[in-house]
Amino acid sequence: EDDVAAAGRMVSLLKMIGFKKVFDVAFAADLVTYEEAHEFVERLEKGVKLPQFTSCCPAWVKFAEQYYPEYIDNLSSVKSPQMALGAIIKRFYAKEIGVDPKDIVLVSIMPCTAKKFEAEREEFNGDVDIVLTTREVVKIIKSTGIDIRMVEPEPFDRPFGLSSQSGLSFGKSGGVLGSVANVINELIGIKNIETKQISEGVRLTTIELSNGKVVKGMVVFGLGNTRKIVDSIKVGELDVDIVEVMACNYGCIGGGGQPYPNDSRTREKRARILREVQSIDVLISPTENFHMLQLYEKYLNKPLSHESHEVIHTHYKHRRRVQEEEIDILPLPEESEDKVKVSVCLGTSCYSKGSYEILEKLISVANKEEWARNLEIKGTFCVENCGKAPNVVVNDIIVSEATIEKVKEVALNELRRTKGDSSVSKSNV
Ligand code: SF4
Ligand code: FES
Repeated sequence: EDDVAAAGRMVSLLKMIGFKKVFDVAFAADLVTYEEAHEFVERLEKGVKLPQFTSCCPAWVKFAEQYYPEYIDNLSSVKSPQMALGAIIKRFYAKEIGVDPKDIVLVSIMPCTAKKFEAEREEFNGDVDIVLTTREVVKIIKSTGIDIRMVEPEPFDRPFGLSSQSGLSFGKSGGVLGSVANVINELIGIKNIETKQISEGVRLTTIELSNGKVVKGMVVFGLGNTRKIVDSIKVGELDVDIVEVMACNYGCIGGGGQPYPNDSRTREKRARILREVQSIDVLISPTENFHMLQLYEKYLNKPLSHESHEVIHTHYKHRRRVQEEEIDILPLPEESEDKVKVSVCLGTSCYSKGSYEILEKLISVANKEEWARNLEIKGTFCVENCGKAPNVVVNDIIVSEATIEKVKEVALNELRRTKGDSSVSKSNV
């Protein structure tokens, strides 16, 4: 993590273990910024759907869909970098290399489990096949026995390997707004830009455009902060034009799927390394990323065109029922009686407090212990009890601050209850 060549070493190592091509999601961050800046300028000119909210953090998007459906149209309709890259690889790149998209297994390495949920959204047609968190990748690397520090770095593959300082900055809070401002500077011109810290996790940027207009941009991290900001906008206490939201503290560098330790010191270190990596990138703005511009020439025509809407834009929906968003992990046949449903919350807060480890232990229990054959195990996302993470839902009971022991006890009680007797004794556990 304190190595500016870490990404290059990762490229080599991923190839050693069998990946054919390794692309940089920061390329897609450039693409998303370019598109999103045009979208913002258009909304600003028409005075519609403002403030524009960024949409690259799926935890925030889902939060908006659940709690602020009235702002769904204000979310940028541009896909996140992960999903935009997935779409262009499966639609265009597959054709270029003469491979059926179905024969490409696209693995995305991401900082959180929210990205796993995002890849499963039906709107994205399964463009990204597998999402691994960075922590999972570290485990895989350790299992190879290869010392990554000894691996010679190599560059990302073309044509999706090039990124500007803007694209790289998506990893930390403020990066998206800063990148959009870079593009606006080239589209309209910026006379002056000033940022002030309002509170922990909330910053206000005032951008004076060359045409005399003043744009107010807010950068916020943490869903608690976000709720306050959106509520203030809703009641008219706050008037801003664009809002960048990241669910995790300090942005993706603090994502729940990042390797341990994931404390503020480590995040500061990650932010520093990211700044250093950015500082040696010769491309400053997405508009200098000529491979991205070639994508427009070849396929997307121009920002906000019909073609780009088809491929790199999406839509959102009001989601009242979070229970619908579950992933089958150890399913049981529909007709099986006496089953107990155990859903482990894999939302960012629960994941960072160890819910994934509980899930692994549960799977092992279900495979080894007779009584646990009746457990139907699922993954779920944010059961709205983040303050008491990790959470596991057993039938309708939320087991908060869960441990494997607590979950086993509640599941066993539920099993007894459904069987209507005590034939399942604790000695079975
Ligand atoms: S790491 Fe956090 S901020 Fe980044 S996309 Fe995931 S949930 Fe959002
Ligand atoms: S992430 Fe919110 S309850 Fe698990």
